[in-house]
Order: sequence, then C-alpha cells, then structure tokens
Amino acid sequence: MNVLAFESSCDETSVAIVRDGREVLSNVIASQISTHVKFGGVVPEIASRMHVEQINAVMRQAFNDADLKPQDIDLVVGTMGPGLVGALLIGLSAAKATALALNKPFLGVNHIYGHVAANYISHAELKPPFTGLIVSGGHTYLIDVDDFVHFELVGQTRDDAAGEVFDKVARKMGIGYPGGPIIDKLAYEGEDNLHFPRVMLEEDSYDFSFSGLKTAVINTLHSAEQRGDTLKHEDVARSFQDAVTDVLVEKAFRLARERGRDTIVLSGGVAANSHLRRALEERGDEASIRIFYPDLKLCTDNAAMIASAGYYLYQSGQSTAKAYATPNLGL
Ligand code: KG4
Ligand code: ZN
Repeated sequence: MNVLAFESSCDETSVAIVRDGREVLSNVIASQISTHVKFGGVVPEIASRMHVEQINAVMRQAFNDADLKPQDIDLVVGTMGPGLVGALLIGLSAAKATALALNKPFLGVNHIYGHVAANYISHAELKPPFTGLIVSGGHTYLIDVDDFVHFELVGQTRDDAAGEVFDKVARKMGIGYPGGPIIDKLAYEGEDNLHFPRVMLEEDSYDFSFSGLKTAVINTLHSAEQRGDTLKHEDVARSFQDAVTDVLVEKAFRLARERGRDTIVLSGGVAANSHLRRALEERGDEASIRIFYPDLKLCTDNAAMIASAGYYLYQSGQSTAKAYATPNLGL
C-alpha cells in the first residue's frame, strides 16, 4: 500500500510517499528555518504563508523522487494536530483535496504519534508495546504505547517544551537558532559545574516543568554579567543540558518500570540530542531496557513519519468518516 502524506504543523513543509508503513519511497522536506532564524523562533503567520508557497512544488518533488504517478497512491494522510492551526490547515487542505481528486481514502494523523512512528521506519523489528518519550520544540510527552494505534498520555510538560527551552536558553546566550544542535555540540567541551535544578514535581507525577530551569539559567547569566564575570558557554550548555537530560531519563525509566515495558522509544526533534541518546542507552544497559531512536533526519518534522502512522491507523480499520469526526486536534 502506497501512502501519500502531508506534514505542515510547524515550519517544515513536507510531503512523503511510504510503502506499507516502513519503506520510504520519497520524503521531501522544505525547511523554513533560514526565514525564522532572524526572529529567534517560528512566526506562525509567516509559516502559514510559506507553506502555501511551497506545498505544490514539494508534492511534485515527492512524486518525482518516488517515481510514481498519482494513480499509484492508495491512501492520503495529513497531520491534523497538534501544531500551529494556520500552518496545519495548509497541509491538511492539500491532503484532503488530493484524496478527493484521486478518489482515495483520507485519514488525519496525530503529529505526536507520527514522531513515534519515525522509529518504525528506522527499525524494521520495532513493535509495540513500549514506553514513548516524545521531546520536540513544541511537545514533551511521556506515553505508554499498547499497540500500533492506541497510546495513553501519562505525562506532559506543564509549561515550556524541552526543545523550546533549548532554543530560549541559546537565544539568551546569543549563540543562534535553533538552539538544540548548538548546545549539543558546545556541551562536549563543558562541565556540569553550575548545578541547575532538576525539577521532578510530585513523586507520583510523570509531568515535566522546564520554565524554572530556564529562569535559573537566565538568572545565572545575568548575575555573572553584573559581576563582570564571563561564564564559559560550554559550561552553561553542559550544565543546562545535563539538567534536562537527568529529568527526561529518570521519568522515562520510572514509567517503563511501572508498566513493565522492556523498551523505551525516543522521538521528536530533541531525540537528535547525542547526550540524551547516550544517557538513555547507558541506563538501558544497566536496567536491561532496549532503547530506540530514529535516524537523525527522521527526528525533526517530516511527512514520512506521518505516512507510517497513517498506514497503521488505516490497517486498524480507522475510517475516513471517523477521522473527519475527530473532535479536537489534540491527543
Ligand atoms: O520535532 P521538531 O522538528 O519540531 C516540533 O515538532 O516542535 O523539533 C525541533 C526542536 C527544536 O527546539 C530544536 O532546538 C530541537 O528540536 N533540537 C535539538 C537537537 N536538534 C534539534 N535539541 C537538542 N539537541 C539536538 N541535537
Ligand atoms: Zn514535531
């Protein structure tokens, strides 16, 4: 089954064609980062307009790369949310219009589950059940995944998303956007000597809170500036990153243990973080828990992961009518 997928929930316009949920025939991604970089973050109105400009060319390229014709498509899917509403509308409208024109079924896909499904593409052997940790610029979720279509949201951030804090801390440090990859690199040369807080919230909660950490980093930078001190960027990066990593790793393993899962699946833009990957793997070795994360290019937003998630939804009997009737764009 050839699935055509559209993703436009944030600042990537992407169209992909994936066969049987796991074989990527094409995955075209037009990133808007160079436009948003001068604002230090994604500007929703600009993102929507750029999606409109890009979507047709990106779709044409996806067919060219896959060497397929429109009539070779069996199912059309599109990200329904969560995401920026104006941005989502562009990909979703393109997906629905294409399904209508081709007279093929359409399904709306949850972006979060799409991030999880990126792992089905990277790891042919991966199957639920498992614990999922989804960390991106807009989301921080801990989920328990029962099968290919059902998952329980067990914890989420009460304020900033993990990737968002990486970006905001980097902006405050004046080192560029997006902050995640820059901090990841700098941290190799730094030490965890600033002792930032690890906010674990209540004992029995799987929720996260990162705004206190963000404030602690900003305050530390300000007071050093007032003292006329210069903190090593590498140390700030390392201390901050270790504080985020410790909390994410601790909660993911706690949930896996509680639910008796032997696998943890990491995904989302922050899954590209090399220290987080290593920390999970080290703890996984000790606890005999397998760790999976997607190939780097599938960590950030892309339509191939949406195609994979859509394929499994369709296989489970989800109908177009039911997908249209999804009451909200959230989980
Ligand atoms: O999944 P994604 O493309 O977009 C959302 O759905 O939000 O994630 C983008 C986020 C950005 O905040 C970026 O700073 C972060 O992923 N990111 C990283 C790394 N690479 C990207 N964060 C930490 N370490 C990285 N290596
Ligand atoms: Zn995302």
